[in-house]
Parts: sequence; C-alpha cells; structure tokens
Amino acid sequence: MEIPSGGIGFFDSGVGGLTVLSACLEKLSASGVFRPVLYYGDNARAPYGGREEGEIAAFAEEAFSLFDDLRVSAAVIACNTVTAVCAERLRRKYPFPVVGAEPAVRPAARAGGEIFVLVTPATAKSVRLLSLCARTEGEFPSARLRIFPCPGLAGAVEEYISSDTPVPLSSLLPPGSPSAVVLGCTHYVFLKKEIAAFYGCTAFDGNDGIARELCRAIGFSRKPPPPTTAAHFFGVAPTTADPAPANSTCNSLSKNKRSRFFSKTGQKGDKKRGFSEIFFLGSGKNLNKRAYEQMFFR
Ligand code: DGL
Repeated sequence: MEIPSGGIGFFDSGVGGLTVLSACLEKLSASGVFRPVLYYGDNARAPYGGREEGEIAAFAEEAFSLFDDLRVSAAVIACNTVTAVCAERLRRKYPFPVVGAEPAVRPAARAGGEIFVLVTPATAKSVRLLSLCARTEGEFPSARLRIFPCPGLAGAVEEYISSDTPVPLSSLLPPGSPSAVVLGCTHYVFLKKEIAAFYGCTAFDGNDGIARELCRAIGFSRKPPPPTTAAHFFGVAPTTADPAPANSTCNSLSKNKRSRFFSKTGQKGDKKRGFSEIFFLGSGKNLNKRAYEQMFFR
C-alpha cells in the first residue's frame, strides 16, 4: 500500500476519532481542501483513559512518528485524552501543525447554570482541563463546571461500534440534572443524542471547533506535494480505479445506529463529493475502515 505524502493524520485510541474525521471532512470539502487522510486508531489498546500518562504519551508517539515518516502536512489529535496528556510535547517535537481536541466548555458555559463535563479519568485529572474550566468559569461567572470522569464509557462505545453491545448509560453516567453537558471525549459523540436525552438538556461536543482549527492550521502550513494518485484525494470523482463502495455493508453496525449517527454526512453528501480513499493505520484499521464505510458509502 503506497501512502502519498502531504496527507492529514488523525489519531485516536479507537473509533472516537471517526466522529472528528466526519466533522473535518465536511469542513475541508466545503473549504476546497483536498488531501489524503491517514486515520490511525489504536483500538487494540483502547481505552486510553484509565492508563498512566507515560503510557498514553508513548502510544501517541508511535502514531506521530509514523505520521512524520509518512510526511503528513498536519495532524489532528482526535482524542481529548491524548490532547490533555501530551499535545504540547507533540507540537514541540514535530515539524507539522498539530491540532488538538478541547472539550467545548466555553459554548456550554455561555448560558450559565450547572454544566457536567464528561471526560475520561486521565483527562479529568489533567492540568489542561482544570485550567480550561477555571478560565471559563472566570469568563462566565454564572456557569458552574463540574468535571466527571466516566470510567468505562469510552470502552463501552468501542464495544457498541464493534459488536452492537448496548451501552448502559444509567450505570456509566453521573446522576443529576445539569443545564448542559459537555462531551469531553470523542467516543462519547457517538452517543450524543442518547446522552442529551438521558439528562434532558443540550449536549455540546468540540468537533466543529476542531474542524475549524484544522482548516486554519492548514492555511498556514506549506502546500502539499502534488498528488500521486487522483483517487487518493478528496474531491476527485470516483473512477474505475476506485473501490466500488456503494454496496458495502458492515454487519457489526446496526441499521438503526447508522441512520442515527451517520445520516448527517453519510446518506448523500460524501459519495457525491467523491471522497474516495482514506488510509487506515494502527491496530484498529479494519474496524475503523468498516465503520468509516458506513459513514460515507452506505
Ligand atoms: N476518544 C478519546 C478521548 O477523546 C479516548 C477515549 C479512551 O480511549 O479512553 O478522550
């Protein structure tokens, strides 16, 4: 498999980053940015949220040194946990722009009230999140941000995507009646509607913000080298050289699940726009590829 240089790397512990990828693809194509995409998911070692910082940073390093070898033009840490643990270190080390994932606490805090910030255990104890929440409360004094680690929730989402195992929200979410919730883990975005319904309030995620930040970062980065294969680039109409994904199926994702999460981008837009090929890397490449195909090629 030949991977062209100049692509955009996406890294997550597993499937959660696909929710970020979805938002970024919308934004990139609307901005006329056509680059190959490399999605690195480390599903075999997910979830990361209960692991030690050093271990998480070492796993991220594996993905990023591969991105560097593959000469990406930018990379997205499509994972709040990795961003919280080592975004600055990765930015210092690598020559390409690195976009991180921040929980959407500011938009949630604007209206004030008690806001639940749902995150992984590693994110919950990070200085980065604590200072973000303190700054945000300073800016919006009528908001009270309460950080809740949700051990087990990201792992349950991995199971949900790979084998349709239902997620027992009532045992995995903190009880209460917040005025808003922030989904501070990209895995949780798969359950955005369910979590909003569980609390009866709005759920905020940071994916559109990440997509905006990626477009900004790309605007400042050097131009990618010319494409080696048209099919590797977005915006190129599928040709006979492309795989024919229109009838591809994914038995592990229920129809119901597909229509709920993936309808935003999956039904009509992307096939028409000609998104053709994304390179899946890491231990979860097969699962993530199947899930992706459901997003874009139903
Ligand atoms: N999707 C990740 C996040 O945003 C990681 C979840 C995990 O692996 O625990 O935090």
